Amino acid sequence: MGWYSFRNRSARFVEHMTPKSNPLDLRVWLDHVEQMGELDQCLGASTDLEIGAISQLNVKKSEHHALLFDDIKGHEKGFRVLTCSTGSKRRLASILRLPDPSSHQSLIESLRDKPAQWQSAAHQFAPVQVQQGPVLENTMQGDAVDLNQFPAVLWNQHDGGRYIGTGCSVVTRDLESGWVNVGTYRVMKHDKNRVGLMIIPGKHGHIQHAKYKEAKKPFPVVIVLGADPLSYLISGIEIPYEVSEYNYMGAILGEAVSVVHGDLTDLPFPSGAELVLEGWVYPDDLLPEGPFGEFLGYYTSESSLASVLTVEKIYFRNQPIILGSPPSKPPNDYSYSKSVMRSALLFNSIVASGVPNVQSVWAHEIGGSRMFNVVAIKQKYAGHARQAGHILSQCGVGAYMSRYSIVVDEDIDPSNLSEVMWAVATRSDPVRDIDFIQRGVGSQSDPMSIANQSKAPFASKAIIDACRPFEYLNEFPKVVDVSKDIEEVVKKKWPDLF
Ligand SMILES: Cc1cc2nc3c(=O)[nH]c(=O)nc-3n(C[C@H](O)[C@H](O)[C@H](O)COP(=O)(O)O)c2cc1C
Repeated sequence: MGWYSFRNRSARFVEHMTPKSNPLDLRVWLDHVEQMGELDQCLGASTDLEIGAISQLNVKKSEHHALLFDDIKGHEKGFRVLTCSTGSKRRLASILRLPDPSSHQSLIESLRDKPAQWQSAAHQFAPVQVQQGPVLENTMQGDAVDLNQFPAVLWNQHDGGRYIGTGCSVVTRDLESGWVNVGTYRVMKHDKNRVGLMIIPGKHGHIQHAKYKEAKKPFPVVIVLGADPLSYLISGIEIPYEVSEYNYMGAILGEAVSVVHGDLTDLPFPSGAELVLEGWVYPDDLLPEGPFGEFLGYYTSESSLASVLTVEKIYFRNQPIILGSPPSKPPNDYSYSKSVMRSALLFNSIVASGVPNVQSVWAHEIGGSRMFNVVAIKQKYAGHARQAGHILSQCGVGAYMSRYSIVVDEDIDPSNLSEVMWAVATRSDPVRDIDFIQRGVGSQSDPMSIANQSKAPFASKAIIDACRPFEYLNEFPKVVDVSKDIEEVVKKKWPDLF
């Protein structure tokens, strides 16, 4: 086993790209990431906890690279797993086709107005059906279907099974309107031709499944287990009902997604996908699924019965790469991307509600990008800080599971926990500067719901005003720190030290 920089680049797989459509080819993106110097390879790891442990330890580093696992124990060389794909500002910006950012804040700045633009442009980017694509290089069908050939990982020690789908996209169709939904839902391997699908009630895939169940019809499904990470990034966020995620991805790319349609279900999947499962969920076919470590870092539910997909056909590229993105105690594989996306939405919501002088916002990974959020403002009037804090805590995109909302002055970087907690420690008076809200919006997946005696998921919230008191802004003690000017001078003079 060893770590080394990934070197063998080639111009492969570019030939199938057409100017008008994008096959969501993971390998094109990996070439780009390798050029950025942000791709490492790991050889010889086992799917039994080792791939999960290495990925999780990698994410804990202050700056980390994407990880490509090869020579996986018990699997054919070349059958690979990629993790940590979205975990740096540069990789995330490249996935979202945004300019190379100099800081987390500049990434949020360039992202802020995009979701609204992408949504309104989505209708112009219907996916383009093609007949050819790398995903058709190999197929298995009927009795030949054998999921055991592909690495399915036991990510964390108390997981109830091996998960082949984490950074995946599950494609389904509405029985009445034909609208195609693409959602990220975890996929547990049961045996050589069956996987379990855990879709939370209310998710679009669940709503579509319910219609088939009611009609007593098998539910057609395809699961994309590896593609350009844009695919699972977008299928993993809330895109409005009846807007297909493929259209939305097209709006981000500025060109339609190129798809082939499954022979059995006619469902579309990217022509450059790595590995795709196709089949049906038969009515009342249920098997125990989970538990699975969740995004706040706990096992909040036990094993329970979940729908089973019987896989009847598999499509895969030569040497396929499965995209893994397991949750765990944050920071985890995808927590950075969630922080950036939610911070951009929160920033816009606070500004839209009329709060002036908002400098930046950060939804911290440690709170699953929901429970510990910070806004930096340049105070303009008495009460400004409380106003910003309460709106951060209660605005539309912020209210669900917001536990701590903190307001800091403009000299504090809200994404830097140490600076934020320094401000809390030195600029707030607990009795005066912490406001509480009772019976706010909570969630059953909050581990603290265990201590909530209520039948409904209420939760209390705290707003911490860690700004210098407005009436003492001018008299407040000066900060002891290196000034920007002298920092620049010494860094230039002694570059080796910094
Ligand atoms: C890596 C990852 C794993 C996820 N796992 C699940 C899951 O197992 N079940 C689920 O219902 N939602 C899961 N989600 C959340 C959904 O993907 C998300 O709510 C998405 O909006 C669902 O798509 P839909 O709105 O089209 O239903 C996951 C998200 C990510 C990013």
